[in-house]
Formats: sequence, C-alpha cells, structure tokens
Amino acid sequence: MAHYLVTGGAGFIGSHIIEELVHRGESVRILDNLATGREVNLAAVRSKIDFRKADIRELDSIRPLFAGVDYVIHLAALASVARSMEDPVETTQVNLGGTVHVLLAARDAKVKRVVIAATAAAYGNDPALPRVETQPPQPLSPYAVTKLAGEYYGRIFNDNFGLETVSLRFFNIFGPRQDPKSPYTGVLSKFIVAYLRGAMPVIFGDGEQSRDFTYVANVVDASLRACTAPAAAGKILNVGTGKSATLNQTITILNGIFAKQVKPQYGPPRAGDVKHSTADISLARAALGYEPLVSFEDGLRRTVDWLRKDLG
Ligand code: NAD
Ligand code: UD1
Repeated sequence: MAHYLVTGGAGFIGSHIIEELVHRGESVRILDNLATGREVNLAAVRSKIDFRKADIRELDSIRPLFAGVDYVIHLAALASVARSMEDPVETTQVNLGGTVHVLLAARDAKVKRVVIAATAAAYGNDPALPRVETQPPQPLSPYAVTKLAGEYYGRIFNDNFGLETVSLRFFNIFGPRQDPKSPYTGVLSKFIVAYLRGAMPVIFGDGEQSRDFTYVANVVDASLRACTAPAAAGKILNVGTGKSATLNQTITILNGIFAKQVKPQYGPPRAGDVKHSTADISLARAALGYEPLVSFEDGLRRTVDWLRKDLG
C-alpha cells in the first residue's frame, strides 16, 4: 500500500482519482479548502479517506500533511479561464503561489514524485494541430500563464531539487461531478443542464471552436500511471483523446442523445479563449502506456445519466 496525497481531491477530477485509489486499496489523504470542491463528491468513500480542509496558499499549515506521503497528485487550483480574466490576482495566488508551496512541502517531506495538473490552454492559438509538447507555448489567459509557470517550477524542482515531477497537460475533461451549479464550470456540464431544464444552451462565438473533450476516467488512468511510470519523471505530457469536436458538433450529438432539435443561442466570443485544441498523445502513450478508455460519446451518455439524477 502506497500513501497518496491529492490536493484538490474534493473537486471534480480529484474525487474520481480518490475513488480509484480507494478501490485499489491505497492510503489516501486529501488537502482541499472546498473553494470549488464539495465534500459530497467524496460521499461514497468518506470513511476510507483522510480529508483535511487546508489552503495551499498557507505553506506552514500544509507542511505537516506531506509527512509519510509517497506520491502527490496536485490538482488544487482555480480551474477557469473566465474566472482568471475577471480576477487574475486570486488565480495567480492559488495556482502559482500554491503550486510552489506544494512543491516545497513535497521536497522537504521527501515525497517520491509530484504529478502536476497542467493544461492544454498553454498552447494558445499556435496554428499547428494536433498539439505536441515541443510546440512553443502561447498562453492567452492568466489561468494558462499560471499553469504553464507551474510546469516550469515542476521542471526546476525535478532537475535541481531532488523531487521527481511530471506535468500532465489535461485537455477538456468532462464527466459526472463537474459542478453543474457553478457559472465557471465546463461547457458540456452547462449544455447538458440546459437540455435537462428545457433551456437554450449559449455558445460564446460562432461555435466553430473545437476541444479535445476527454472523459474523466481517461485522466484518472493517466494520472495514476504518471505517479509510478519510470519514463515519466521530469516530463510534460498531453492527456487527451487525440480527437476533437466543435461546439456546434456537440449540439448535434446532444440533440441525438436527447432526441430533440435544440437550437443554441449565440453570444459574443469569450475573452482569453483558445480557438482549436486537439492532443497528440504519442508521448503519453510511450511514457505512461496511456490509451484513452472511454470515447467522447460514451462519456457524454454517462454524464447525461449522472446529471439527470443529480438535478432530480
Ligand atoms: P475543480 O474546481 O472541481 O477542482 C479544484 C479543487 O481545488 C477543488 O476541490 C477546490 O476546492 C480546490 N482548491 C481550490 N483552491 C484551493 C486552495 N487554495 N487550497 C486548497 N484547495 C483548493 O476543478 P477540476 O476540473 O477538477 O480541476 C482539477 C485540476 O485539473 C485543476 O488544477 C485544473 O486546472 C486542472 N485541469 C482541469 C481541466 C478540466 O477540463 N477540468 C483541464 C486541464 C487542467
Ligand atoms: C477547460 C477547463 C480548464 C482547462 C482547459 C484545457 C473548465 C472550467 N475549464 O478550459 O480548466 O485547463 O479546458 O483545455 O473545466 N463556452 C460556451 N458556452 C458556455 C461555456 C463555455 O460557448 O456556456 C465555450 C467557451 O467560450 C470555450 C469553450 O466553450 O470556447 C470551452 O469552454 P470551457 O468549458 O470553459 O473550457 P476551456 O476554457 O477550454
């Protein structure tokens, strides 16, 4: 049994990683301040985990939580591009300041490896698709800058400070528990909630922007592989599916799933947005043995089922 610390473990992606770790019989501690996460996300495993309410902006208060930990999966962050455009200071304090604290605390506690949740947003609007890790980054939002800087810090700790780090550039992750009530939640959660409520989904821009929508089970698998795969140390790796869909195409697919003919409402484009995003996952395949497990359409159906129940 290995000891895992998951920062941001009460959030959307974190809660799925926790469930899988518990399922595998690992020892799990969670560090989360519940800024956007919810304890109810952990309801199924609550008696089997060590939940600590703490803030990664407070180095002294988080240090003791790293004692005896083998692997850290660092997810705690403010994860929204739009929120970072409205309040770049808070996003920077949490995502960048907090990441440096997590790396320092992990190094000092002699943690074996930290897996950092990085983002496809780092690629910005570079015309080359699919995205390969060697492309020059072009962050377009404070969020993307903080996450890219987190990768750079990870590299510095890996190369100089005796702490192995791996940064995973997650593409657009979706699935159950992506908060349906938050205005900053992912687009698919918002679209599905609109379908279930008989409201009109709103598209920011012309709907021709594309995303590599990746079901959450895929990112759980990649993150756990990244903790131990020998070839991953010091690497930055894309985690997506290698395929993408435009927002207009997702509406067509949802119309099929719901057997409706919903027409979206179009509004102005959102500042800080990336236009196109598709992952090249060759490096993750080679370094992690990663292979996407669940397709976009299967993932969408599972998410619709969950949201239908969650919204009652
Ligand atoms: P989420 O908001 O559900 O999870 C983030 C968690 O971090 C929450 O539980 C929140 O309470 C916690 N948190 C926030 N500030 C904190 C602080 N100061 N101290 C301690 N905990 C704090 O978002 P998510 O979608 O699950 O994202 C998880 C990670 O994956 C983030 O780092 C995000 O940037 C990254 N990521 C997500 C996606 C995606 O599509 N969802 C894609 C790329 C990268
Ligand atoms: C998402 C993640 C981010 C991650 C990045 C990686 C969330 C909240 N954000 O950012 O953490 O790092 O993927 O690629 O999970 N849109 C609409 N209507 C809406 C909401 C959004 O048209 O109601 C549009 C947006 O303008 C954007 C696209 O949908 O063009 C995707 O937006 P969003 O789900 O917020 O994700 P990203 O900004 O891509």
